[in-house]
Amino acid sequence: MAKAHTVPAIKDMKGGTEPIVALTAYDHPTSRMLDEAGVDVILVGDSLGMVVLGYPNTLSVTMDEMIHHTRAVSRAANRALVVGDMPFMSYQSSEDDAVKNAGRFLGEAGAQAVKLEGAGDSILGIIRRLVEVGVPVMGHLGLTPQSVNAFGGFKGQGKDPESAKRIQEEAVRLEEVGAFAIVLESIPAEVAKTITETIGIPTIGIGSGLHCDGQILVTEDILGLTEQPPPFAKAYAALRPDARSAAERYVSEVKSRTFPEA
Ligand code: KIV
Repeated sequence: MAKAHTVPAIKDMKGGTEPIVALTAYDHPTSRMLDEAGVDVILVGDSLGMVVLGYPNTLSVTMDEMIHHTRAVSRAANRALVVGDMPFMSYQSSEDDAVKNAGRFLGEAGAQAVKLEGAGDSILGIIRRLVEVGVPVMGHLGLTPQSVNAFGGFKGQGKDPESAKRIQEEAVRLEEVGAFAIVLESIPAEVAKTITETIGIPTIGIGSGLHCDGQILVTEDILGLTEQPPPFAKAYAALRPDARSAAERYVSEVKSRTFPEA
């Protein structure tokens, strides 16, 4: 079935009347639910490591783990664009590694695009090569979690004029090398606004204010499943206490032999 949301369709949403709505998914039922709800972009984020696999950060997530989860998500997404997040050191090591691993996301896992963090000279070269060989690339600037050690923690970025200017310049370069959209994570709203007004591709914000062309959040945060959600996330449900109480009732009924009924 042809997708309603292709890479060019998402790119064309820049400057349109409707913001781009993006959420993360790591499994088939969640992907199906988001697709039915009208989400435009489903990101199989490497946040998988923290949200689902119990790692302290995203650095231990492997290509095989990302491919396994992206396959499940792709099989359920009929209309949303599926973007696979390239894990730490699956693309930074060399252009050839980046092409091989991005190829797995599109070829084996059914994603339509990949996401990469940063915009240093080598990353720009890698993105140019991927785009040249037909892999659509979403950029990611600001608080790029794969650089958590360089940042000294999960800290907002672009707060001083110098780093704000650097992020703005990086956004321009990402567009120049062919990225079709850029995630802006945890940067001041004014910096995100300037970038959004300067570049010709969509910005998708997370904790970066309301002026971006779209918004993305982690689905477990909006469902109220996360124990310690980030301050910018909004919970639209409280599923963790509900699910825990369901499990407690089941435990109680099985222990007391009231379930199953005779
Ligand atoms: O890994 C992820 O889920 C992300 C988004 C939150 C932008 O990169």
